[in-house]
Amino acid sequence: MPDETMTMVAIRELSKVYRQGDLEVTALRGVSLDIGRGEFLALMGPSGSGKSTLLHILAGVDRPTSGTCQVQGIDLAQLSESELADWRSLNVGFVFQTFNLIPVLTAFENVELPLLLTRLNGRERRRQAQTALELVGLADRQKHLPRQLSGGQEQRVAIARALVTDPALIVADEPTGNLDARSAQEVLSLLEVLRRTAGKTVILVTHDPKAAAYGSRTLLLEKGELVGGIGAGGP
Ligand SMILES: Nc1ncnc2c1ncn2[C@@H]1O[C@H](COP(=O)(O)OP(=O)(O)O)[C@@H](O)[C@H]1O
Ligand SMILES: [Mg+2]
Repeated sequence: MPDETMTMVAIRELSKVYRQGDLEVTALRGVSLDIGRGEFLALMGPSGSGKSTLLHILAGVDRPTSGTCQVQGIDLAQLSESELADWRSLNVGFVFQTFNLIPVLTAFENVELPLLLTRLNGRERRRQAQTALELVGLADRQKHLPRQLSGGQEQRVAIARALVTDPALIVADEPTGNLDARSAQEVLSLLEVLRRTAGKTVILVTHDPKAAAYGSRTLLLEKGELVGGIGAGGP
């Protein structure tokens, strides 16, 4: 019997079919999965196997065709679009392969951005953005524009932006795909530190086994189905 208080994400018989005109693509078929609170899960699988689709559904960006996805006991299907958007902004931090920083904003302004949607005042926003930049080791790069940073630094700014609202869940889709080996290591260790010291639940999509090794558990998707895994079965 799983301890529900320890379950962060509970996915049951999840399927996703994309329809484009007459064409149907089944991206996920009957995926069931529990992710523990404070777990670092690595999700692997070939291109097109449904990794991003699964990540998008559990982060509340996309909706399944059938099946359920509960995060911290909340069934995401029960939320309206605007409730889902609010839920996302409070509970999920995203990290993308391409960083997705705004080129005309400084590192500090990029990190502060998600807080502009909250009720925090200017002073609180500045304090939180400052703390997030310190956490990723870039307090001395606040005024830099993205193009004045290395790729690894850009990704760390993006991680600070994902963290700034203090979400319980961090999802990272191929975050090291555009980085050299050393920057990749820094980014992965940072995600692991966030899990260990801040109790974040981290879900990492990667096709690099070395990156997956930072996780406490690796699951493998093939053609939309979970076909196996390595490591501890949750916390
Ligand atoms: N928005 C979409 N519309 C139509 N098909 C899509 C869409 N997103 C993904 N797919 C298809 O779903 C399958 C799984 O895609 P994806 O989840 O992106 O896989 P992965 O991240 O493992 O590469 C692929 O066949 C892909 O072409
Ligand atoms: Mg993908």
